[in-house]
Amino acid sequence: GGITTIDPGYKNTGSCESAITFLDGEKGILRYRGYSIEELAEKADFLEVCFLLIFGELPTEEQLSKFDKDIKEESQVDEDMKKILDGFPKSAHPMGVLSSLTSALIAFNPGSVDVDSEEEMYGAIVKILAKFPVLAAWTMRKRKSLPLDYGDNSLGYVENLHKMMFAKPNETYVANKIVNEALDKLLILHADHEQNCSTSTVRIVGSSHAGLFASLSAGISALWGPLHGGANQAVIEMLEAIKEDGGDTAKYIAKAKDKNDPFRLMGFGHRVYKNFDPRAKIIKKAADEVLGDLGIEDPVLDIAKGLAEVALKDEYFVQRKLYPNVDFYSGIIYRALGIPTEMFTVMFALGRLPGWIAQWREMRLRKEPIGRPRQIYIGENLRAFKEISER
Ligand code: CMC
Repeated sequence: GGITTIDPGYKNTGSCESAITFLDGEKGILRYRGYSIEELAEKADFLEVCFLLIFGELPTEEQLSKFDKDIKEESQVDEDMKKILDGFPKSAHPMGVLSSLTSALIAFNPGSVDVDSEEEMYGAIVKILAKFPVLAAWTMRKRKSLPLDYGDNSLGYVENLHKMMFAKPNETYVANKIVNEALDKLLILHADHEQNCSTSTVRIVGSSHAGLFASLSAGISALWGPLHGGANQAVIEMLEAIKEDGGDTAKYIAKAKDKNDPFRLMGFGHRVYKNFDPRAKIIKKAADEVLGDLGIEDPVLDIAKGLAEVALKDEYFVQRKLYPNVDFYSGIIYRALGIPTEMFTVMFALGRLPGWIAQWREMRLRKEPIGRPRQIYIGENLRAFKEISER
């Protein structure tokens, strides 16, 4: 029979049972596998969080070192993948390139597609955790005309990522503790967020048994949009525009409130949080610390703080429970770390990778049925075909 009710945007539809991430939007609580985001951001490193999200428990030293070793063994990317990257114009948006490269990776790793057993899944998971940072770094290096290279397997996951992105061929790479710790924290804060748009995409694509990499490639495309992960790029562009326009924050608050103006305050509001996004709180503090530690003064941070201060007191935002979200301050840190604006959403994807993987694995292990929502048909009733001469 047909259905009689719909839920546009699935605002009130549960799609699955999940044991990965707990989120209480009213109270502003976020936990991965029961551990608070505040504690993980402070005490864990990103690779531990990857293991925790995917396999359900914090790793022992032995488990972590095996995980690390298994990932490192897969850190090569087929040289022919470079030809695919070369085919893109330099101006191509990194998210489009990354999604395409992730998809292309399937052709070079056909054994990672049809994975049913836990062991086969593990193989595909360590492959993508190893190769994804290489693809992300290559995407950035290509834009900057830097030679494509690999990292250094003697380094930790995040340090290695940073090296792959920034190492210059004629300079010895020197790791900066402040930079790498900030990066680690940002990746942890982005690592999972239950059934958001990209994660639901990964689960729904995976539910047809399309394979992990194909599901991830679709997730990257979903993340790209400015209402989702693309907001971090949009925030900085907005703050820059406000700065260029003389820094008049009140004017932009008024624009955001004006229902005849399509402008929205980017980095504000959330489908689930009707309170402070706990990630935004941590990132705001980290932004102050990182900029302080690196001795950077960014006028855009003051504009962001000014906007937030006004918005949080404004009736429009208060009534609608609109608070700064994860994307509001993250770009300011990325910028301080020398990451180009168009790469911000790629950084988000690097962080979200373990979450997508964990959700895909959970969906497959629970043998969930293919995702297939219903509709209410509102089109024409049956009508007779009209010959072209009669139309
Ligand atoms: N600026 C101005 N008004 C807003 C904003 C905003 N940023 N966000 C929501 N509203 C208003 C909206 O116009 C609506 O007003 P009304 O009830 O008068 O029609 C009300 O608040 C509810 O908004 P909604 O669009 O129905 O809420 P949603 O759950 O469909 O959308 C959202 C959530 C995140 C897409 C939206 O808040 C938004 O577009 N924010 C800006 C983009 C952004 O920062 N996205 C990142 C989200 S967090 C991390 C991530 O997912 O990547």
